[in-house]
Amino acid sequence: MRHKVTIVGAGHVGATIAQRIAEANLADVALLDILAGIPQGKALDIWESGPVCGFSGQVIGTNDYADSADSDLIIITAGIARKPGMSREDLLATNARIIKSVTQEVTRYSPQAVILVVTNPLDVMVYLANKVSGLPGQKVVGMAGILDSSRFRSFIAQELRVSPQSIQALVLGGHGDTMVPLPRYANVGGVPLTELLKPERIEKLVQRTRQGGAEIVGHLKTGSAYYAPSAAAVEMAEAILLDNKKLLPCSAYLEGEYGLNDIYMGMPVILGSGGVERIIELKLTPAEQELLLQSAAKVKDSIKLLNKLELF
Ligand code: LAC
Repeated sequence: MRHKVTIVGAGHVGATIAQRIAEANLADVALLDILAGIPQGKALDIWESGPVCGFSGQVIGTNDYADSADSDLIIITAGIARKPGMSREDLLATNARIIKSVTQEVTRYSPQAVILVVTNPLDVMVYLANKVSGLPGQKVVGMAGILDSSRFRSFIAQELRVSPQSIQALVLGGHGDTMVPLPRYANVGGVPLTELLKPERIEKLVQRTRQGGAEIVGHLKTGSAYYAPSAAAVEMAEAILLDNKKLLPCSAYLEGEYGLNDIYMGMPVILGSGGVERIIELKLTPAEQELLLQSAAKVKDSIKLLNKLELF
């Protein structure tokens, strides 16, 4: 039987995820948005590429949550991006209200689905989706670490002039300025990065990774990244739909791991049909552990702001 994925939010991120899932023949897709016509038009356009691109799944666009019924996976991309003059708190409050209503609707129609949250501010939005859904932590997961790691891998590949496919790297922590790229866990075809590059060069790549989202916004001016974010979300979708149990950095619910409780943050996890099936606890150095705790403190600050809104 074919899988079904509902993507909520038909902006650049949502529509590109729909395209990638259709082209990979992973599932039938329902693209849902509150804007009349936008999901219908984009979905029809993607579906009409099927004969050329060689996929046979359905791609429908809708404004009606009833069309999301019985999805195996819900991907939430709905929300606004920060505009000039808006504070981070403004973004948090607006998107929190959106995520709350989206989560209530999708869990009503697909109570068994795994929920994958992409909306920013990421770690706090996935935390909210978990609380509103009433689902166990493992069934609600956030996308950020694969994106941040993919940027780090790309920069390493460029610096060393080797194929990005040979690069493995891990970025943990919250999806923001305090994210924690871990050079000690990066390697080039199995060779530790720390043997190939001087610490000063690695530090430059780490800094560029931390600013990766802002670098794109700086170019685009009116929007943020969507090609790499959609690719990252689809790697997670594939792991969940095909139950392939990949080890991937994802925003996961922590209950004591790394000494942290009741928080979502980027961690190495095993992703399968059950969602986050296991969280891998690394033996971090004191310096790495400190960076992770600083990142957790930032996410906790955002959760405090969220709690003030009294949405759950
Ligand atoms: C990024 C933003 C969109 O990292 O979170 O590109």
